[in-house]
Amino acid sequence: MTAVVDVTADATAAGEAVAARIAALIRTKPDAVIGVATGSSPMPVYSALARHVSAGLDASRVTWCALDEYLGLPPRHPQSYRTALEDALIGPLRLDPAALRVPDGTAQDPDQAAEAYEQFLAKAGVDLQILGIGRNGHIGFNEPGTSFASRTHRARLTESTRKANARFFSDVASVPHECLTQGVATIMRARSIELIATGEHKAEAVARALYGPVTEQCPASVLRRHPDVRVTLDDAAASLLSRSRTA
Ligand code: F6R
Repeated sequence: MTAVVDVTADATAAGEAVAARIAALIRTKPDAVIGVATGSSPMPVYSALARHVSAGLDASRVTWCALDEYLGLPPRHPQSYRTALEDALIGPLRLDPAALRVPDGTAQDPDQAAEAYEQFLAKAGVDLQILGIGRNGHIGFNEPGTSFASRTHRARLTESTRKANARFFSDVASVPHECLTQGVATIMRARSIELIATGEHKAEAVARALYGPVTEQCPASVLRRHPDVRVTLDDAAASLLSRSRTA
């Protein structure tokens, strides 16, 4: 296992720890390319980063690249990942909206939009990718069974993921069935990776990712093949680690 694992007291502390490393990267490389996840896990990272910006960090030359986007939501839909990332990043980090790049979930031709985003990422070169993890071990919207060789592609959400994300929508029926997501190989191309997981409901997925077999059935397990991965947890998400280590 090559991942460095940090266990912090709670989600706020986890967010602060990750944000401190991102701020250090931005100070060293002001025009860094940073991949950003959506969902609940990274939000404390973005809030903590906003505090660094209030304290003088200039994040305006960074290119911020989304990990994924739903397909089929109308433009500007409040639950699109573009909207979520704009809310979390543009104002709080004092960015020009053009600094945020998101795969086009409204494209007439989603396969072409996926390919265009893949080309963009390959050319830009992601310095650091922020990830959450699904309860089923997904990273991005790469659900169990996705090829480790996958590039940015159109994908189908599992019913368990749609149910998990229903909390952001009025009901589960409103959660899109499809998305565009960076592929597993796309994610692995990032120079460094920061995975953040908090809460007891993530403990099993974290344990499988870190100590189970490296298998496409648990997409996050591939991260152990990456040379520079850090996993930041709170106590609850780390609660199964010692047991699984000795299992
Ligand atoms: C989000 C994403 C997903 C989430 C994962 C965890 O852009 O691609 O992989 O990171 O579903 O979601 P939360 O953090 O909401 O538990």
